[in-house]
Amino acid sequence: MGKDTLTIIDNRTGKSYEAPITDGTIRAMDLRQIKVNPDDFGIMSYDPGFKNTASTRSKITFIDGEKGILRYRGYPIEEIAENATYLEAAYLVMYGELPTREQYEQWVYDITHHTLVHENLRTFLDGFRYDAHPMGIFISSVAAMSTFYPEAKNIFDQESVELQTKRLIAKVPTIAAFAYRHSQGLRYSYPDNDLSYVGNFLNMMFKMTELKYKPNPVIERALEILWILHIDHEQNCSTTTMRAIGSAHADPYVAVAGAAAALSGPLHGGANERVLRMLKRIGSVENIPDYLKLVESGQERLMGFGHRVYKNYDPRARIIKNFAHEVFKVTGKNPLLDIAIELEQRALNEEYFIKRKLYPNVDFYSGIIYQAIGIPTSMFTVMFAIPRTVGWLAQWREMLQDPEQKIARPRQIYDGYSERHFVPMDQR
Ligand code: CMC
Repeated sequence: MGKDTLTIIDNRTGKSYEAPITDGTIRAMDLRQIKVNPDDFGIMSYDPGFKNTASTRSKITFIDGEKGILRYRGYPIEEIAENATYLEAAYLVMYGELPTREQYEQWVYDITHHTLVHENLRTFLDGFRYDAHPMGIFISSVAAMSTFYPEAKNIFDQESVELQTKRLIAKVPTIAAFAYRHSQGLRYSYPDNDLSYVGNFLNMMFKMTELKYKPNPVIERALEILWILHIDHEQNCSTTTMRAIGSAHADPYVAVAGAAAALSGPLHGGANERVLRMLKRIGSVENIPDYLKLVESGQERLMGFGHRVYKNYDPRARIIKNFAHEVFKVTGKNPLLDIAIELEQRALNEEYFIKRKLYPNVDFYSGIIYQAIGIPTSMFTVMFAIPRTVGWLAQWREMLQDPEQKIARPRQIYDGYSERHFVPMDQR
């Protein structure tokens, strides 16, 4: 066995350099010693999209993309999804261990007692047009919460961090449901503390004139599992945004709003909405081959397929696909499921997808279930943002405790003009 170092020979100078290898990585800063002369800045690594750059150490989520493995704090996602409640899984991700009964009861109590939003936030919501996209409302309202809790700026005050963590987890479902009710012109439904976290969300979404809303237990559990699957996914685009904003020591409300904005993009959390639109557009199984031809010729993307890290079946997609049938026993089958299953089968057998290791990701089946339980398509990404708020906060807290972290500030390769001089307007 050789040494845990990497030897680099700079062929420009013939000089040789040695960089330590730790955890399968070299430090990018070790490249800076490689110079052609003392005035040279030194070598940098160029990695658009951070395809091969580890930006942090983390103990929260483990993914083996080649094998299709996902674990929260070491526990396989399948075991968590089968056995934990949503708030139990959230506690695990946040604090690193499964809660004792006492810890759990306190956590549930604390979250349940922070679900109300300030009435001024409700009136703030009223300012949006009736057809405002709920994700836009969600992002802005979370950012606006920063103004209600100015003490949130004390990001190194542990008591404040705990309080803001609980407030955010408790209030995001309320904001989400209010955004939906606003778009429907419906009176807001306030939180009901007798219900579970997920049951209460269904109450705030769907309660009409009944005195007490009773969630269907199958739907409540289905949504709970969906949310558990979405809690964290290590250094994805929105989490990286959360860490980047947090690295400037901004408060957690604006950081979560920024992370949610990243999530809204169609290549990220916006994909679930796009999957549904795609399935509707395909319309019937006969049209699948034509659609796949468009994808293979680069004119379309197969939404809900492909992943930066998974080069195998996304384990979350497998769990969702398996329990979809339970949900449909209650809601009636979503006709789009047949199209999705057939589309998946065909794609997995096509050379284009095999060669590129493209498999269904979490978004491929989640929208079909959301739709079956009555969630409108425009709310799908908001449904992702609610549980991911837990992951964002856990990652943000981890970052604040990490002495190696600095303000996020990548380098660039400047490709523009070298120095030139101002030309007056009439001479241009
Ligand atoms: N449909 C068709 N071709 C695809 C797809 C797709 N969904 N995904 C990747 N490819 C092709 C891509 O064109 C490229 O081909 P080539 O080598 O010929 O240029 C190759 O596969 C590698 O793709 P990439 O774009 O370099 O991969 P990436 O890691 O940069 O992108 C991705 C990952 C998730 C953005 C991409 O797979 C994608 O756009 N998928 C569809 C959107 C989607 O479902 N997003 C949800 C991701 S999971 C949940 C979440 O993160 O929110």
